[in-house]
Amino acid sequence: MEESKELIKKSVAKHGKSRNALMPILQDIVADKQYLEPLDIALVAEELDLSAADVYGTATFYTFLDTVPRGKNVIRVCRTISCYMSGKDEIISTLEKILNIKVGETTIDRQFTLLTANCMGWCHKGPVMLINDEVYHSLTPEKTIEIIQQYREKSKN
Ligand code: FES
Repeated sequence: MEESKELIKKSVAKHGKSRNALMPILQDIVADKQYLEPLDIALVAEELDLSAADVYGTATFYTFLDTVPRGKNVIRVCRTISCYMSGKDEIISTLEKILNIKVGETTIDRQFTLLTANCMGWCHKGPVMLINDEVYHSLTPEKTIEIIQQYREKSKN
């Protein structure tokens, strides 16, 4: 709890106490802890003098602000129209098969979470996915498998 309090205080000092600071503060917490827990939501609400429901609503509206624990590598496949037309469904089913999870789930070893997200601005190079902050575009099932293998190799080292 002390750790969360300190993190939030630092972020509030950086971004200010106005409502406009809510998103950057939530992003700071996710960057540090990978997700938002109910305690963080309550603490941010207290600091900014907002209701916890308001803060929670903002956090869950933006799918980038995770409110449940995620795997070490969070995969987000773009589900918006251009990527849909260029084959995102095939990419999702490839990922589901090789990771042995469905969208919204995390692998048992907590290495990967598979999610979908809205347009990431790479529409001309779909299908697109993000793994953490890294963008992968022009995906094919083969390329997707290769990328996941690379992450698996990295996690062994
Ligand atoms: S539609 Fe997928 S990146 Fe824009």
